[in-house]
Amino acid sequence: MTPDELKAQVGRAALEYLVDGAVVGVGTGSTVNHFIDALATVRQRVAGAVSSSVASTTRLRAAGIEVLEADQVERIPVYIDGADEIDGHGFMIKGGGAALTREKIVADLADRFVCIADQSKQVAVLGRFPLPVEVIPMAVAQVVRRFARLGGQAVQRGRVVTDNGNAIVDVSGLAIRDPLAMETEINQWPGVVTVGIFARHKAQICLLGTPEGVKTLRF
Ligand code: 5RP
Repeated sequence: MTPDELKAQVGRAALEYLVDGAVVGVGTGSTVNHFIDALATVRQRVAGAVSSSVASTTRLRAAGIEVLEADQVERIPVYIDGADEIDGHGFMIKGGGAALTREKIVADLADRFVCIADQSKQVAVLGRFPLPVEVIPMAVAQVVRRFARLGGQAVQRGRVVTDNGNAIVDVSGLAIRDPLAMETEINQWPGVVTVGIFARHKAQICLLGTPEGVKTLRF
């Protein structure tokens, strides 16, 4: 099976976690695109979606699914999103698609985070994938220097501008052995909008795509 077929498999499997009649939280990325395509086939089951990016909003609307603003809902039962890495506790690195801030906002509304990923995303220790961080443009150089003091090499992601008008830096060379502590620390730095460590908003369930079928991990 190709990586895309593995992603399609978990995108379809996530339908099982929808709560009938409720609003669903929808993440961003190629795996989520498969979920949106699957959701389109059962769209009458949900009251709508809260989206984590302009790209997902466009795809949801094209599929005939109503998109609500985050401030129109108080809680949602489930948030479905991909990950760049996920460890054995459900802690994740996210932000490969530059949507990490809105992803964390929607995840914060949800009772349950269901991660959908192909098996290449499973790791023992987070940090092989360069850690994305959304940064206010005037603070980029400062934040890059702070990461260097932690032993990380941070580089700005080209001319990428997030949906919130900010820059992304990607940090390699970090072994994230204590994701909760590192998330808390980096979030304090002036100019950091969101760090792509999802430990405080970890997954409760991961549907992992493998050639043998979908593996369900619970954390
Ligand atoms: C976007 C994300 C995505 O969930 C992550 O990059 C995984 O993407 P894909 O499903 O395309 O592999 O965090 O900001």
